[in-house]
Amino acid sequence: MNEEQRQGAGLLKPDLVNPPEKDYSRYFQTVYTPPSLKDAKKRGKEEIAYHDDFEIDERFRGMGTNRKFFIRTFGCQMNEHDTEVIAGILIGLGYEPTDIVAEANVILLNTCAIRENAENKVFGELGHYKPLKQKNPDVLIGVCGCMSQEESVVNKILKTYDQVDMIFGTHNIHRLPNILHEAYLSKEMVIDVWSKEGDIIENLPKVRHGNIKAWVNIMYGCDKFCTYCIVPYTRGKERSRRPQDIIQEVRQLASQGYKEITLLGQNVNAYGKDFDDIGYRFGDLMEDLRKIDIPRIRFTTSHPRDFDDHLIEVLAKGGNLVDHIHLPVQSGSSDILKIMARKYTREHYLELVRKIKEAIPNVTLTTDIIVGFPNETDEQFEETMSLYREVGFDIAYTYIYSPREGTPAAKMIDNIPMEVKKERLQRLNKLVNDLSAEAMKPYKGKIVEVLVEGESKRNPEVLAGYTEKNKLVNFKAPRSAIGKIVKVKITEAKTWSLDGEFIGVVEKEKVMS
Ligand code: 5AD
Ligand code: SF4
Repeated sequence: MNEEQRQGAGLLKPDLVNPPEKDYSRYFQTVYTPPSLKDAKKRGKEEIAYHDDFEIDERFRGMGTNRKFFIRTFGCQMNEHDTEVIAGILIGLGYEPTDIVAEANVILLNTCAIRENAENKVFGELGHYKPLKQKNPDVLIGVCGCMSQEESVVNKILKTYDQVDMIFGTHNIHRLPNILHEAYLSKEMVIDVWSKEGDIIENLPKVRHGNIKAWVNIMYGCDKFCTYCIVPYTRGKERSRRPQDIIQEVRQLASQGYKEITLLGQNVNAYGKDFDDIGYRFGDLMEDLRKIDIPRIRFTTSHPRDFDDHLIEVLAKGGNLVDHIHLPVQSGSSDILKIMARKYTREHYLELVRKIKEAIPNVTLTTDIIVGFPNETDEQFEETMSLYREVGFDIAYTYIYSPREGTPAAKMIDNIPMEVKKERLQRLNKLVNDLSAEAMKPYKGKIVEVLVEGESKRNPEVLAGYTEKNKLVNFKAPRSAIGKIVKVKITEAKTWSLDGEFIGVVEKEKVMS
């Protein structure tokens, strides 16, 4: 922690960077460190410090005895993983988890800021908690995650959601015991958000969701500053974990019997760029991880700009590195990509895809696309459609552009009506559905390997799991198959999933997946 953060963390010491419009001085008696997007944009040269000395302060032990917590998580896997850490800290404090919000003593919303509708969901949810708070004023309600890093959100909560007791950000999750302690003591809203990223703390407790698949952070933050994106402001500068810490964590998960690891970062291909003592990048990490005896390793999410030849070479070696790559393109128009500051052209992207397909002929590619970026013309949108066909993606996550306050794109004057954007999204989604159905057809009659995760959501008599290429497969099998990699013969290929017949548990050999 640097001096500034230490000060920010200091109880009873308000540090008003951006005062809200109204006079909220009654809140100042307690922790009041609100976010500032202007500060969040800064990228300092100072080195990142690594710590492994996290422990729950003697004062706070037992704080959660006879109390329960409920966490609702919105957004990406990074948030899901942060929730595992938050749950780990709460359990360390003596709280018990519950799935029933009405019986919780602490309710936390781990929020996502990526699009306006993600934020609206959170505000809607907060509205539902008002009666709970009125019924039981001792319940603590907290907002954390990416939305907490935005000034406008904190001001809105202060103005309209007085049921909220605490707001903390993405950089100071480890301070949760202090924040809770303060919230119990104070009648006022506790706001503790750091605009500047913190150090890397290695030994935070985690309660993982399930024992089959696990997330492993490899880096935090993003320095790409795509002009539409709020993430570089909410998650801070790029900071890579040290290779030995990641390798040790994956080894440990392997020895605990986990079958699949997803490496997490906002832009995993930038891994290691911030090391100045070692030349060790994402390709090197993948080379080291592929030697660990764990069946599957994936990563999300990557940026085409940093996807280098060494990484392709390592991925082509296969083994436990799955042949599915999620490679967000965002647009098929070089002009739009330029205004998005993606720093690659349509041609660069297609060339990268060519290289990947050459090295990994069986590769499955999926992507993210934003439709209706400010002033996107029909021709530019058609370039996205044609690129989609040319690459032959299996699946895409498609979004209508959502202006995010504080980002450069939000200041652009946009002359494209929402109706036009919606119509484009529909057309793109039709193409995505058609190609997904096409990609599924060849599976009929084939045998695939499936990592069985549990009962199907729709039918408890049926088990469900995913192939290496992330295809959902439903089939009937004994429950003892859960957590194992099994062979399934595909009997029906649908647009988004496959149905099949269970054959048996895979030992070590590989079949088509
Ligand atoms: N509007 C719409 N979609 C966005 N994404 C990121 N920012 C925005 C925004 N402002 C999408 C991108 C990214 C995915 C995680 O979310 O496609 O890859
Ligand atoms: Fe956002 Fe671009 Fe960073 Fe992805 S690479 S998190 S889209 S700024």
